[in-house]
Amino acid sequence: SNSLLKWRWALLPPCGWMPPSASAAAMGKRVAVVLAGCGVFDGSEIHEASAALVHLSRGGAEVKIFAPNIEQRDVVNHLKGSPADEKRNVLVESARLARGNIQDLAELKVSEFDAVIFPGGFGVAKNLCSWAVDGKNCTVNEHVNSTLRAFHSAKKPIGLCCISPVLAAKVFPGCEVTVGQDKNVDGRFPDAETASAITELGCKHICKDVSESHVDKANKIVTTCAFMCKAPLHEIFDGIGTMVKEVLKLA
Ligand SMILES: *[C@@H]1O[C@H](CO)[C@@H](O)[C@H](O)[C@H]1NC(C)=O
Ligand SMILES: *[C@@H]1O[C@H](CO)[C@@H](O)[C@H](O)[C@H]1NC(C)=O
Repeated sequence: SNSLLKWRWALLPPCGWMPPSASAAAMGKRVAVVLAGCGVFDGSEIHEASAALVHLSRGGAEVKIFAPNIEQRDVVNHLKGSPADEKRNVLVESARLARGNIQDLAELKVSEFDAVIFPGGFGVAKNLCSWAVDGKNCTVNEHVNSTLRAFHSAKKPIGLCCISPVLAAKVFPGCEVTVGQDKNVDGRFPDAETASAITELGCKHICKDVSESHVDKANKIVTTCAFMCKAPLHEIFDGIGTMVKEVLKLA
């Protein structure tokens, strides 16, 4: 009933409530997390977004979440794995992952943050840029581009996982990133050709396993392959942990 719903709602902490963390008050790094929707096939990969947030919380970071206020390229029925005939907004869908506490990416002020992190998922390749259809010829959303460029020129670290490193490859030609292996080693890297597309953009692809991340020290870009590798969920979680740790170290 309606009153039961209200009663349960009253027990929930307010949106954006975060448990106090011992180290946060003293030395919390301020980190912006940029989402691309909610769900692997048309938005942010939920486990990757959550992994990044858990590791940021453990690292004592102060997190704010952003997404562009644009329509999704498409909507996928995740049960059937087929397109759904509906329209959804990237900011509204990302708000699910942010427990409602989210802002339009257009409002992000780089001066208020020490670092930025982009979890992966097809939404990155569909909504934040057009990699899913255009490959290396893709366009990048203007607010995503300006956010990346602003953090880069302020010499603040940028963390990316899964397919998100293509954003850095497109915006910063010559940078070093990893999306895992450049060959389908043991059948664990079915999207290995992404590495050659990155090389064709004039970037250096560094082969890494799921448990590792690569740090491009000159550009302060930290990348890890996450779900680009067919690995157990806890290995992906731990790999994202190494990325978050390196980002916080550089911040
Ligand atoms: C990118 O553009 C080039 C030149 O127009 C074209 O030959 C190539 O097929 C395009 N690649 C993709 C992945 O669309
Ligand atoms: C990013 O923005 C800059 C400056 O407006 C522009 O020159 C560049 O082509 C853009 N890059 C991409 C990948 O859209």
